[in-house]
Amino acid sequence: MDSKKPPAPPKRRSHAWFGKQDRDGFVHRSWLKNQGYPHDLLDGRPIIGICNTWSELTPCNGHFRELAEFVKRGVYEAGGFPLEFPVMSLGETQLRPTAMLFRNLASMDVEESIRGNPIDGVVLLMGCDKTTPSLLMGAASCDLPTIGLSGGPMLNGKFRGKDIGSGTGVWQMSEMVRAGEMTMDEFTAAESCMHRSKGSCMTMGTASTMASMVEALGMSLPENAAIPAADTRRNRLAQLTGRRIVEMVKEDLRMSKILTREAFENAIRTNAAIGGSTNAVIHLIAVAGRMGVKLDLDDWDKLGADVPCLVNLQPSGKFLMEDFYYAGGLPAVLTQITDKLHTGALTANGKTLGENIANIPCYNREVIKTPEEPFMASAGIAVVRGNLAPNGAVIKPSAASAHLLKHRGRAVVFETIEDFHARIDDPDLDIDENCVMVLKNCGPKGYPGMAEVGNMPLPPKVLQKGITDMVRISDARMSGTAYGTVVLHTSPEAAAGGPLALVRDGDMIELDVHARRLHLEVSDEELAVRRAQWQPPEAPKRGWYKLYVDHVQQAHLGADLDFLVGGSGAEVPRDSH
Ligand code: FES
Repeated sequence: MDSKKPPAPPKRRSHAWFGKQDRDGFVHRSWLKNQGYPHDLLDGRPIIGICNTWSELTPCNGHFRELAEFVKRGVYEAGGFPLEFPVMSLGETQLRPTAMLFRNLASMDVEESIRGNPIDGVVLLMGCDKTTPSLLMGAASCDLPTIGLSGGPMLNGKFRGKDIGSGTGVWQMSEMVRAGEMTMDEFTAAESCMHRSKGSCMTMGTASTMASMVEALGMSLPENAAIPAADTRRNRLAQLTGRRIVEMVKEDLRMSKILTREAFENAIRTNAAIGGSTNAVIHLIAVAGRMGVKLDLDDWDKLGADVPCLVNLQPSGKFLMEDFYYAGGLPAVLTQITDKLHTGALTANGKTLGENIANIPCYNREVIKTPEEPFMASAGIAVVRGNLAPNGAVIKPSAASAHLLKHRGRAVVFETIEDFHARIDDPDLDIDENCVMVLKNCGPKGYPGMAEVGNMPLPPKVLQKGITDMVRISDARMSGTAYGTVVLHTSPEAAAGGPLALVRDGDMIELDVHARRLHLEVSDEELAVRRAQWQPPEAPKRGWYKLYVDHVQQAHLGADLDFLVGGSGAEVPRDSH
C-alpha cells in the first residue's frame, strides 16, 4: 500500500545537485563517490559543510582536522552527511603585513565556498583572531543554517613557577628586557613555556573575546568560549555541534533568525562584562553589516557603559582562560548580568539565551566576580570624538591607567611604523612620560590592513624611570592581549586625509575619556594650511592590496569592503555544466 511508504525527504538546497536523475545529477554524485561514499548518503539527508580554517601556518588552529572528525561523528549520528572544506586561514602571528588585511578576502572565500557548493548547513571552525570574524561575515552573507565551533584556548603558560599569558606576557617581558630587568636568555627560555598546548591565545585577547562573542550572539552551543583546546570536553562539544547542525537544517534555523539586533546588543554587553578586546568593535560592526543589522560605534559606548567587568583575566587582570573555564566559563558571567541581556534571544541550540544561562554556578569568585563586587565598575569600550577624530576613536578604559584617562600633553609624532622603530630607542628623542605618542598611517588604507601596532612600546628612558604607561593615539588597532592608555581606530585615518595626518611635533592634545573628548589644540586656520600641504601616501598598484585599499571602509564602519556589505543569500540558479 502506498500509505505505508515512508514520506519523501523534504527537498533541500543540496537536492539541486544530488536530486537530479539526469546527466548533471550523475556528474555531481559520481565524482563525489570517488571518496568511497555509499549512494544512500545522497538520499536527501542534510549535507553539512564543515568550513575549516586548519593550517600549520595558523598554529592556533593546528588541531582543527581532529576537531572536524568529532563534528563529523555528530553529523553522521544525527543522520546528516558531513563534507569538510578548507578556506583561507589567517594566522595572526605569521601573516605579513597583518592578518587583518586579509579578513575580508577570507570572508569572500567563505561566502563563495558556501554558496557555490551543495551544502544545506554549515559548521564554522574558528580560532585564531581573524578566523572568527571572517567566517561569520562570509556565512552571514549566505544566511544558511549555521553554527560556530571555536577551537578553544591553550592551557595556561607556565614559566618558572608562574602563569604567563599569550601576548600579555610577551609585552611585559619585552619591556623588562628593554628596561634591563630581564636577560635575553631568560626571555628566550620563556618561548617554550608560554605556548605549550594546542589552542588559541589563553588571555582574554581577541581570539577568546571573539569566541565569547560567538557564544553571546547565540551562534554556538553553550560553553563554546572557554573549554580549553586540550580538554576532551572540547571534542565532545564538537560532536554535539555536529549533531545540532543537522537539526538546525531540519528546523531551517538560519543565521538571520539568531543574529538579530538583540543578539548584537547582548554581545556588546558581554564584551564589557568580560573586559574584551577592542577588536570586537570592528568585527561585530562588520558582521552586523553583512546581516543587515544596524550597529555603530555609539551602540558600543551606550550599551556597554553601565556593565561592570566581572572577569579577572589578563590583560586587564590576573587569570587565564583555563582558570576561566574551571570557574564556570562564559555562562557563569552571563548569568550575573541577566538583567542587562535580551534573554529571549534565540540561540543555536534552539533555546533562548535566558534558558541557557539560568542559575549557572560559579566555582571561583576570584576569577568571575559579581555585579555587587565587580572586578571593575564600568569597563565597556569608550568612544572619544573631537577635531582629531570626527568619526570617533576607541579606548578600553579597563586596560588603561586611571590617572591618564584625563590628560593633556605634547605630541611626539611618528609618521609611519618604520619611523617609530627607527627613533623610539634614541636617547636624544625629545620625549617624557607626559607626552602623547602619535602614530600615523597604520589604519585600514595606510598600513594597509590596520595592524595591531597601536600599543607602541614606550621609550627606554621613560621605562627606566619605572613608568609603564603613556597616552598613545593612532589609527591602528591593538592586540587584544595588550594594555595601556591607548586610543585606537581613529577615524578618518591619516592615509584617508583624517585630521590625524595633520598633527605635528609639539602640538598639544587633550584626552578626556570621561567627557568622551579627543582634541587637538590647533586652530582651524592652521589645520587648513597644513591640509593644503598634505600629500596622501602612495597607493598600492595591483592585486588584493589595490582592491582592498580602493574599497575598504573606515574603522568606525567595521573596515569591510564597501561592496561586501549585506548579503546575496545562498541561491545559485545556474549549473556548472
Ligand atoms: Fe592565534 Fe592569538 S595568535 S589566537
